[in-house]
Amino acid sequence: MLSDKTALPIITLSQPTAEVGAQVHRLISECPPLDPNSMYCNLLQSSHFSETAVAAKIGDELVGFVSGYRIPQRPNTLFVWQVAVGEKARGQGLATRMLLAILARSANQDINRIETTITPNNKASWALFEGLAKKLDTQIGSAVMFDKTRHFADQHETEMLVKVGPFKAVQA
Ligand SMILES: CC(C)(COP(=O)(O)OP(=O)(O)OC[C@H]1O[C@@H](n2cnc3c(N)ncnc32)[C@H](O)[C@@H]1OP(=O)(O)O)[C@@H](O)C(=O)NCCC(=O)NCCS
Repeated sequence: MLSDKTALPIITLSQPTAEVGAQVHRLISECPPLDPNSMYCNLLQSSHFSETAVAAKIGDELVGFVSGYRIPQRPNTLFVWQVAVGEKARGQGLATRMLLAILARSANQDINRIETTITPNNKASWALFEGLAKKLDTQIGSAVMFDKTRHFADQHETEMLVKVGPFKAVQA
């Protein structure tokens, strides 16, 4: 039990299982500007791709989630699909902690680069990956990946490809 009312609740991180898929779906819907995917997609992220995903919980409540996969043509590169932290858990380093937790797994010691996409105005997300590059003592670069007009038929902001790396294996 917490004796100090100002103490932050303990957030535990784990490799997800399909049982968390429905909670992932709810969390993503509460984290604009993330695109909600189908619940079926969230179930696949939490099962087939669980080695490159992480679930953050306070008790039984999901408060953070990272989905990702190894890029098939370049399996040493982790593509971070979505990072979601519920409002009440933000500003405590949780997103950074989740990304580092994926890299620290024994199964992921060969990952030496990260790629993701970020829309130009998502300040929190840029700050997250710039901070991560510093912590991994490496570089960050960006270029257009999916253009608003050319790829999204003007229905979505341009997504910038962000590359972080190369970096050394993260120890658990
Ligand atoms: C982006 C998001 C995941 C950040 O989660 P978080 O747990 O609060 O992030 P962290 O506490 O790990 O912060 C990481 C860095 O970003 C900075 N940061 C976080 N939120 C910020 C904000 N709103 N504006 C500016 N900087 C911010 C932190 O200061 C920190 O910088 P540092 O490494 O130099 O100390 C969270 O705000 C979120 O879920 N947003 C909605 C969904 C989204 O945009 N996801 C990202 C798309 S991939």
